[in-house]
Amino acid sequence: LRRMTGDGEQIILSALDVEAQKEAERQVQAAFAQSQENSRLAALGTMALGVAHEINNPLQVMRNLGTLLRESAMPVNSQARLLDKMDRAVSRITSIVAALRSFARDGHADPAALVNVKELVTEVVDLVRTVRPKDDAQILIGEMSDQLLVECRETEIGQVLLNLVLNALDAIRDSNERWIRIEVAEVGEDAEFSVTDSGTGIPPDLVDKIMLPFFTTKTGTGTGLGLSISRSIVERYGGSLAVDLTSAQTRFVVRIPKRVAASATASEQRRTA
Ligand SMILES: Nc1ncnc2c1ncn2[C@@H]1O[C@H](COP(=O)(O)OP(=O)(O)OP(=O)(O)O)[C@@H](O)[C@H]1O
Ligand SMILES: [Mg+2]
Repeated sequence: LRRMTGDGEQIILSALDVEAQKEAERQVQAAFAQSQENSRLAALGTMALGVAHEINNPLQVMRNLGTLLRESAMPVNSQARLLDKMDRAVSRITSIVAALRSFARDGHADPAALVNVKELVTEVVDLVRTVRPKDDAQILIGEMSDQLLVECRETEIGQVLLNLVLNALDAIRDSNERWIRIEVAEVGEDAEFSVTDSGTGIPPDLVDKIMLPFFTTKTGTGTGLGLSISRSIVERYGGSLAVDLTSAQTRFVVRIPKRVAASATASEQRRTA
């Protein structure tokens, strides 16, 4: 039929093809964006559970102290000590809620700011200890300057580090030796973060697959989006996320420029405008 009706008809048909393909691409992109959001929400759900659990302890402490204070006639200085304990329980709850709030926010539209790397790493480790209290792994933080600043959205780079540390915790669950080491270095104009763990490593035939969206070996518990989301975040900064194949232990390395390039800032602004 196409041959019979000539070129005009053919051009119309192929134009329709391109439109259909573009539409399909748009749908795939929308689905990926939606699944990124779903995965963020799933992570939030897990975190909320950990937080509920963690907050329960200080609340219990406060209730018991309250009962003690009400029922017993005790000297004023003993009362003061109990009130101090209550204060500490309240501070603990406040800091847990603050950590959850800073990571739960969808910060992708925040402006990039100068973020203190050492503080960011500390916050992520605190959060990990809060949401995975039963994982008694040693989390070692290497020497790092407290002056190192990186221009980024804290929630995004925090999420990347969090994903890597949570993966490391999963990887060492059944190991005898259980440690995770986080290191930060300045390499020229870049900041380099690395997360190393004492797990059994990534099987060589899987190394090329682990960053693909939805690839997971954690049947039932993993979405397989942690690494692909992390990679897309750091690539937006003009950085990279890679497995260090020269390391004896499993080691993931994130590199991002310390400063957002002027052209990147301009395209960011166009994108978010
Ligand atoms: N530190 C690690 N050691 C060994 N294997 C790892 C490590 N980090 C990731 N992997 C492998 O890469 C896969 C993909 O990781 P990714 O973070 O993308 O998804 P996930 O952890 O399976 O799921 P989710 O992040 O949604 O919980 C994991 O299922 C695991 O097989
Ligand atoms: Mg993961």
